Amino acid sequence: MDIGIDLGTANIMITMGNKGIVLNEPSVVAFNKKTEQVLAVGQDAYRMIGRTPEYIVAVRPLSDGVISDHNMAEQMISACITKVCGRQLIRPRIVLCVPSIITDVESRAMVEAARNAGSRKVYLIEEPVAALLGAGVDISRPNGNMVVDIGGGTADVAVLSMNGCVAKKSLKLAGNKIDQAIVKYIASTYKLFIGEKTAEQAKFTLANVYDPSEKRTMIVKGRHLVRGLPEQLEISEIDIYNAIIEIVKEFVDAAKEVLEQTPPELVGDIYNNGIILTGGGALIGGLDKIMSSAIGIPCRVADDPLSCVAKGTGMAFGMIDKLLDGFENISMYKY
Ligand SMILES: Nc1ncnc2c1ncn2[C@@H]1O[C@H](COP(=O)(O)OP(=O)(O)OP(=O)(O)O)[C@@H](O)[C@H]1O
Ligand SMILES: [Mg+2]
Repeated sequence: MDIGIDLGTANIMITMGNKGIVLNEPSVVAFNKKTEQVLAVGQDAYRMIGRTPEYIVAVRPLSDGVISDHNMAEQMISACITKVCGRQLIRPRIVLCVPSIITDVESRAMVEAARNAGSRKVYLIEEPVAALLGAGVDISRPNGNMVVDIGGGTADVAVLSMNGCVAKKSLKLAGNKIDQAIVKYIASTYKLFIGEKTAEQAKFTLANVYDPSEKRTMIVKGRHLVRGLPEQLEISEIDIYNAIIEIVKEFVDAAKEVLEQTPPELVGDIYNNGIILTGGGALIGGLDKIMSSAIGIPCRVADDPLSCVAKGTGMAFGMIDKLLDGFENISMYKY
């Protein structure tokens, strides 16, 4: 039994054998501290955030792409595995996806969490490698491909050729920081304090980083910072643009930096193949256009960008011997 897990800061997705994606939920776990039992994972736990009594915790065990709460991460992985394959005696092989730049301690925490959750063997794959595989790109040829994966906690930029990373950069700056930037902007400009979930909704509806206009608007609700009372406000694409453009520029700069480190032959390939955008952040309106015009290389959003990495982790089982970089056989670790 083979299981691929995209353990993301925002979402956890699981693929199983050739069944494709069998689980797609927010990475949240709710835990009863009194009985030491998991109450809920995924969507059910997500609804409990900020609404639990003291003896229950509803948390995101990952932040910035890596495990920040070890025990909870383990509980979440094992609850998800049980959810998709029941309580079975055969212990699965797991491919787990990690950000492209990760410390030994961080990757070990990932591996241990998956092991303690009941896997027989754990492999790690770097997020950009999985993202390109999942986007349907053949990364085994001597041909350069570039991917920009923008998730909830990290943005990974990488150039791959012949199954290996040639140049890469990882920023701890992605969807969550964008939501926070929106909260901050609305608070400082309009003195209205909105929640992060509201900010995320505004991002989904109004983000347009290429040609924003005053015309598209929506209503947001929050608490007025001076009066202290609930209030609502109409914001437009321009507001969201002003709030997030600095962060988007950092993504563009990261892509430029990686291109600068890339050997010229591969730059030529990328010019022909285009840059591929994956992860939820790829859906930010106009991101592909602003990237294309700032870098001068065509950019396109992958089909179903949110699930590329998960699909890639599933496909990786067929290439366990072939992949070099970004794919570590965990038996190499000496425990
Ligand atoms: N339509 C959209 N427009 C803008 N952002 C979006 C859209 N849909 C999802 N997102 C954002 O994408 C992020 C989640 O993406 P994804 O599932 O790829 O992250 P992740 O893999 O869990 O995180 P990471 O890889 O950083 O650990 C969230 O921040 C979410 O707000
Ligand atoms: Mg991801």
